[in-house]
Amino acid sequence: MEIESLSEIIKKRRTYYASDFSNEPLPREAVETIVENGLWAPTHKLTQPWRFAVLEGVHKQEMGVFMANFYRELFTIEEFSNERFEETKRYANNATMIAILCKPSSRLPEWEEVAAVSCAVQNMWLSCTVMNIGGYWDTGAATIKYVENCMEIKEGEKCLGVFFMGNLKQDLMEVNRKRKPLSKKLSWI
Ligand SMILES: Cc1cc2nc3c(=O)[nH]c(=O)nc-3n(C[C@H](O)[C@H](O)[C@H](O)COP(=O)(O)O)c2cc1C
Repeated sequence: MEIESLSEIIKKRRTYYASDFSNEPLPREAVETIVENGLWAPTHKLTQPWRFAVLEGVHKQEMGVFMANFYRELFTIEEFSNERFEETKRYANNATMIAILCKPSSRLPEWEEVAAVSCAVQNMWLSCTVMNIGGYWDTGAATIKYVENCMEIKEGEKCLGVFFMGNLKQDLMEVNRKRKPLSKKLSWI
């Protein structure tokens, strides 16, 4: 592989929300390939502090309903929109969701373990890009609460959010989230 190909994949990777997903489900093998690539991320002392759980079936509906009700509590009556509320209930209907769990090792600073999980998520995200699958990392309070309520979280484990994935709808507008130039972020000392 040439570096130009890798650079192209890295720069092509984008956040795609669940509202961008079509109702064509992801095959199990695709999900497994993506998570398998996550497992090859580097970890200090090879701790591999992660665990992933696929939320499918009833979770697609239940996540949306939970999010809608969670955010409803945060809005004033003036801010609340019933249309938005109903839309949020259906938000995750087309998503395959992967709960991201981290159990930091006591032998390392916690940030290193979180960084390692982030490397795993980036591997998954880049894999999605190559496979033309949409995805994004959701670390919202409602999303994390939903995971904590719906599955067993082991002692010492933390939920670091959910990776949402799905086949992309046709004719989506390309999202252009520009980056600051190298000259502003790299200095040679
Ligand atoms: C650790 C992490 C947490 C994120 N959490 C959220 C989130 O909770 N909600 C959201 O809309 N996007 C979330 N994102 C996605 C970012 O908003 C997105 O990556 C950023 O806007 C850049 O867009 P791009 O991914 O298309 O390049 C998260 C990204 C990272 C790396």
